[in-house]
Amino acid sequence: MISGGMIRSAVRASGSHTACSIRIGAASQLASVSKRQLRGLYPDTQVGDRRWISVYGYTQSKALIYSRYGEPKDVLQLHKHSISAPHGTQVNLRLLAAPLNPADVNQIQGVYPSKPPFQSTLGTQEPAAVAGNEGAFEVLSTGSGVKTLSKGDWVVMKQTGQGTWRTHAQLDESQLIKIENKDGLTPLQISTVSVNPVTAYRMIKDFCDWDWMRAGEHWLIQNGANSGVGRAAIQLAREWGIKTLNVVRERKTPEETEALKKELTDLGATAVVTEAELLSGEFRNVVHELTRKGQEPIRLALNCVGGKSATALAKTLAPGSHLVTYGAMSKQPVSLPSGLLIFKNLVFDGFWVSKWGDKNPQLKENTINDVLQLTRAGRFKDIPVEEFKWKWDTEGSELVAGVQETLSGYRSGKGLLSTLSWLSNDFG
Ligand SMILES: NC(=O)c1ccc[n+]([C@@H]2O[C@H](COP(=O)([O-])OP(=O)(O)OC[C@H]3O[C@@H](n4cnc5c(N)ncnc54)[C@H](OP(=O)(O)O)[C@@H]3O)[C@@H](O)[C@H]2O)c1
Repeated sequence: MISGGMIRSAVRASGSHTACSIRIGAASQLASVSKRQLRGLYPDTQVGDRRWISVYGYTQSKALIYSRYGEPKDVLQLHKHSISAPHGTQVNLRLLAAPLNPADVNQIQGVYPSKPPFQSTLGTQEPAAVAGNEGAFEVLSTGSGVKTLSKGDWVVMKQTGQGTWRTHAQLDESQLIKIENKDGLTPLQISTVSVNPVTAYRMIKDFCDWDWMRAGEHWLIQNGANSGVGRAAIQLAREWGIKTLNVVRERKTPEETEALKKELTDLGATAVVTEAELLSGEFRNVVHELTRKGQEPIRLALNCVGGKSATALAKTLAPGSHLVTYGAMSKQPVSLPSGLLIFKNLVFDGFWVSKWGDKNPQLKENTINDVLQLTRAGRFKDIPVEEFKWKWDTEGSELVAGVQETLSGYRSGKGLLSTLSWLSNDFG
């Protein structure tokens, strides 16, 4: 048997940034501590069936971190550390779910314009950043100065670049947006609301003077229509009386392509075509037919692919329309025939939700709430996901392999880190 004094010494020796926990059931001297003894020593600590407990208010956490840029499989590591009890306006959080978005991988590769600083705050050997930009978290505890959040609230990050691929985090209240009404919402929905739906929403609302009197008689066209942004654009446009012409890449078989088209049509897409159809000489006629010989103008194009696909989108636009580029999945530059500028006076814009959100924090919050309202009402459907369950003993290599897949293309769903199955409120 082992005494309380010995446990305390073991904990103290572990230091503040590294493991501050006691393993139950491990083949060690500590293994013989009974749950009852632990509860007596640390009345606030619940043991349950978990193998790790926190003491002195410390919370055990794991984070996917990187200390240099490169492919996720080469630079991403799982780092274990502990988080102290929150003070002042600090808030301790646990992860519910976090998506693996293309931009997250670009950030790890070092090719994304926003680069979270490498810091030593998590006790890593080298200064490091926590990966991930989006996610849903639950409040575990709050410092005495926190005014707007309490235990059990669900939050998302106010800004990107905070590092969301971690089981727990300690952030300042000012960095968080509270989900005012989480009723009827799932962690998946909340974890994926702040980037892609907000991007789609703002691009549709802010880059075109839609004539709302002509609802149902005007169009937008987009490539990457099966992406998270694309699916959001389809559903928001449907809500707002805008028809959508959607471009996807062919799947391996005609049946799979048809299934994808049907998936998007079920979301509210007016028409779905393949990239091959878009690039064919016939496409002009297709557009002519769909738009009732041009009487229903295509007023906006959303481009996340670039290259020939972007050029083909631009050619369908009515004079004076906008093409907004927000992604570059093909890694090909956007090239434009001069005539589109001279004779059609098209406008080419770019949109970056991170920058927009930093400048418009309240509008971002309102936009999130609008989308969540639609979600609650069943009018905004979940994106398909491939879930990676993050348990305490999940190997870092498993998680990293999931991340590495993010940019692979032709996926059936977006990667999603989900911790719900093993984390619970009493942990920390
Ligand atoms: N600017 C902003 O503020 C902002 C905000 C959000 C997202 N984005 C960008 O928007 C894009 C989509 O993001 P997401 O999270 O919605 O994506 P996602 O759900 O992960 O889907 C990825 C999309 O990219 C397509 N794709 C992948 N590789 C491609 C390639 N080589 N050529 C053409 N298409 C390819 C996929 O089509 P297949 O299924 O056919 O592979 C799919 O439609 C990304 O570039 C992302 O960085 C930008």
